[in-house]
Amino acid sequence: MEVIRYKKQLQDAIHSYRRDKKAIGLVPTMGALHQGHLSLVRSALEENAVTVVSIFVNPTQFDNPEDLENYPKTLERDVQLLESLSGNLLVFTPSKSEIYNGNITSLSYYFDGLDKVMEGTFRKDHFNGVATIVELLFKTVAPNKAYFGEKDFQQLQIVRKLVQQQALPITIIACPIDRESNGLARSSRNERLSKSTRAEAGLIFSTLQTAKDKFGTENANDIKEWAISSFKRNSTFELEYFEIADEETLTPLKEKQKNIKYRAFIAVYADGVRLIDNIALN
Ligand code: PAJ
Repeated sequence: MEVIRYKKQLQDAIHSYRRDKKAIGLVPTMGALHQGHLSLVRSALEENAVTVVSIFVNPTQFDNPEDLENYPKTLERDVQLLESLSGNLLVFTPSKSEIYNGNITSLSYYFDGLDKVMEGTFRKDHFNGVATIVELLFKTVAPNKAYFGEKDFQQLQIVRKLVQQQALPITIIACPIDRESNGLARSSRNERLSKSTRAEAGLIFSTLQTAKDKFGTENANDIKEWAISSFKRNSTFELEYFEIADEETLTPLKEKQKNIKYRAFIAVYADGVRLIDNIALN
């Protein structure tokens, strides 16, 4: 498995696959890899002749400099984890100036409202930063398929919008959320939770599951109020938002419509760590 730092070197390494019309897969990550990331990489390895895993902590998507500073960097371990998978893998770990061509700023995108809710309201400019780096990676690798986790569902929809708007010939593959045994969605941030908080954090997923059960018979507002009040009673977790929204447009549900898919979304703070999760409701 090759670890590549330069765009030119990466493009040379995948050139023969493109020439021979063999499928190229891309899995963008910020490293600190866990089984959730590896589930994406496994899917990519199954479906492509070569898979590029990018590891790059993207500064332009962090609105909080402390969060960027604290973001775990574990390249050696990441490489070991990837080496444990069998398949044709290239690891791309560019420097900031290499991937950004020296100009480390976000572009401004129009996402048709997808960025105006949930993560977009609480993390200023986050999605412009995400789209900027994803576009740069798409242009550098030009993959046939790119893999994103439903864990970051809003990000997934933003990336789909980017591909659609720019008419990029890339298929976006959505991968299911990989969870710890108590239901907590795997995240690099889980390592920063105390042992007891991590054990208790199954509450986030069980809240989503109960919301799903209620969705058949109760209206969205009542479910939202129920979720808010159940977190008020808990001193370990602080709820930032709980939202039920149309899966495509991400607009909050007012009145249920037939043939529309809905999802519940949640963001919670625990031990100063921000955790997000979501579930399909119908
Ligand atoms: P990162 O948080 O490292 O996540 C990389 C990919 O792994 C994302 O598509 C994310 O949704 C997916 N992922 C993370 N945890 C997962 C889990 N428990 N189950 C399934 N998939 C999971 O998301 C980013 O990086 C960045 O924003 C990036 C897209 C790389 C742009 O910088």
